[in-house]
Amino acid sequence: MAKRVQAPIRIGVIGVGRGSSFASGATDLVGMKLVALCDTWEEKLREAGKRYGVATYTDYDRFLEHDMDAVVLANYFHEHAPFAIKALAAGKHVMSETSCNATLAEGVALCRAVEKSGKVYMLAENYPFTRFNLEMRRLYRSGEIGRVTYAEGEYNHPIDPDTINMLSPGMNHWRNWIPSTYYCTHALAPLMCITDTMPTLVNGLAIAVPELTDALPRRNDPGSVILCRMDNGAVFRIFGLWLTGHSNWYRVHGTHGGMEITRGPGYFGPEQVRVWHDHWDCPAGVAKERTYVPDWPEHADLANRAGHGGGDFWTNFEFANAIRAGRQPFLDVYRGVAMSSVGILAWKSALADGAPFAVPDFRSEKARKPFENDHWSPFPSHAAPGQPPASIRGPLTPRRAAVAAARKIWAKQGYHGE
Ligand SMILES: NC(=O)c1ccc[n+]([C@@H]2O[C@H](COP(=O)([O-])OP(=O)(O)OC[C@H]3O[C@@H](n4cnc5c(N)ncnc54)[C@H](O)[C@@H]3O)[C@@H](O)[C@H]2O)c1
Repeated sequence: MAKRVQAPIRIGVIGVGRGSSFASGATDLVGMKLVALCDTWEEKLREAGKRYGVATYTDYDRFLEHDMDAVVLANYFHEHAPFAIKALAAGKHVMSETSCNATLAEGVALCRAVEKSGKVYMLAENYPFTRFNLEMRRLYRSGEIGRVTYAEGEYNHPIDPDTINMLSPGMNHWRNWIPSTYYCTHALAPLMCITDTMPTLVNGLAIAVPELTDALPRRNDPGSVILCRMDNGAVFRIFGLWLTGHSNWYRVHGTHGGMEITRGPGYFGPEQVRVWHDHWDCPAGVAKERTYVPDWPEHADLANRAGHGGGDFWTNFEFANAIRAGRQPFLDVYRGVAMSSVGILAWKSALADGAPFAVPDFRSEKARKPFENDHWSPFPSHAAPGQPPASIRGPLTPRRAAVAAARKIWAKQGYHGE
């Protein structure tokens, strides 16, 4: 009998910056095929279209008419929800980069849209899928360290001024405005995946630098700390974002021991996983402490070829499997919206000196309904009366030298807008 060959899942990607790395995530090997690209930056779009030999669109509505099964959202960080809702309404599955919603109202609308469409929705969080975090998830599920009581997640990624200006073309580009709590999913998602817990309450404190610089035309702060109360009572500490001193690190304490990634330069290694128990609470036959480099649980060859420590392979793999199985993935809309809302609520908290804010249970219509009109947001495209600032120092005006330095870099890469 002839072997049944499954048709590839046809994918369209919006945003050819980060969106380009979708193609390096071993898409053909997980049974996905890139068929269309969308971007308003015509020059970059043309170049990417040629590189991948696929259809290109500058208009999102026209792009959605392309014959395809799913859409990957790699457009601006704070604009994912409306694009996801449109794609779902057009009958496409959706995988969204880094943030699901930029306001609580968007979070409510997105959950409703996924429920109504019956399509698969996934947050493309790649950090839970490094070798080290997958090993910590396996260990946690084995029960060796018991129930989580406290955990720490850090994604602090400083970038040199020229590169960050290149990545942030335009005075109103999201990277020049994003409050330091909003990019929290790289730090929080691995902990939620390892321990299968959900945030219920947040406190945030932002870290401001004392002076504006001549290098970056930014309105935001470089870092923050978020404390999350989780639904099992545990406390998580989340740290980021671009303070000097790179750190990508996770630690989990349980009722019967602890585990962490040994401190190192990031997901590139040479970190190891360290597991330890107190001498009075060490299971029979288990070492009091061990430190080792874990193996991939499976598909090592594919993961090793993909970006972000293998995470870029696993997100595609999870998305494809969910579509084929007709079920929602672990990083579903409720977990994604909860994580993105932690960033928003932590910013409300930071502006109120760390006051606690409850995270609604977005799975419940009754719990989420009170937030359906909460459009609170510091991004310029969301301007409204009472708009909050993007820095705890209040509204900032970048120095003229910083604007001039950035404009020089933007012009070199063909960006001549505001
Ligand atoms: N998971 C990761 O490791 C990782 C790494 C980098 C970026 N990201 C995420 O990916 C997303 C994109 O990041 P980026 O660095 O590529 O950002 P970016 O701002 O450089 O790129 C966004 C692209 O979307 C295009 N775009 C914006 N609005 C559009 C519209 N209406 N129609 C068509 N195209 C439009 C822009 O022209 C631009 O090319 C963000 O959410 C970011 O947080 C994730």
